[in-house]
Amino acid sequence: MVSDKIATQHPNTMDICNSTQDVQSPISNYFSGRSIFVTGGTGFMGKVLLEKLLRSSPDIGKIYVLTRCKKGVNPQDRFKTILEGPLYTSLTENSPDVLKKVIAISGDVTEPNLGMSPSDEELIINTVSVIFHVAATVKFDDILSNAIKMNVKGTLSIIELARKIKYLSSFVHTSTAYVH
Ligand SMILES: NC(=O)c1ccc[n+]([C@@H]2O[C@H](COP(=O)([O-])OP(=O)(O)OC[C@H]3O[C@@H](n4cnc5c(N)ncnc54)[C@H](OP(=O)(O)O)[C@@H]3O)[C@@H](O)[C@H]2O)c1
Repeated sequence: MVSDKIATQHPNTMDICNSTQDVQSPISNYFSGRSIFVTGGTGFMGKVLLEKLLRSSPDIGKIYVLTRCKKGVNPQDRFKTILEGPLYTSLTENSPDVLKKVIAISGDVTEPNLGMSPSDEELIINTVSVIFHVAATVKFDDILSNAIKMNVKGTLSIIELARKIKYLSSFVHTSTAYVH
């Protein structure tokens, strides 16, 4: 989902238009200075996505990752453990500062308003211009009501958030195969 009207108001618009003049890849230029919002960042796909964004687009703004508490571990500590893991060894050794761009935001896709605090929601609405919605249940034999709550209603909640975002440029949904 791309909002051209809003994207033209984003301060990075000129950078995108002039990207062919730059040595860096157009994709890397696109993310330069942009803050993004990610769901599912603790999962298989999300962890790889975050590493790739940080490695290939080191000038990216902040990466806010909606994360729930799990087994008594809070979102911030969950991410600390992930960023200390083997997937991030190269970044830890070569550009440790870039890891500080990852900020865990407490929330749950199935809760009203994504379970975010009003201040976190305001931060996302005012500063983010790209969304990657990756969170999902991949239990393909789950009870249908659970799957709908997470994969359908959860996605609708992310779309509602996207509609409130002031400078939305792109919305990427990493969907589940065979679901339309
Ligand atoms: N794996 C693949 O090869 C592949 C290929 C193509 C497409 N996909 C699609 O990509 C998506 C993600 O797949 P995956 O393999 O990364 O799955 P995964 O490893 O099971 O990760 C699921 C992610 O969703 C989060 N999540 C689940 N319920 C949540 C909730 N209520 N609130 C907030 N976050 C929640 C999980 O957080 P917790 O850590 O808190 O549980 C985790 O970060 C799926 O739609 C899948 O079909 C995957």
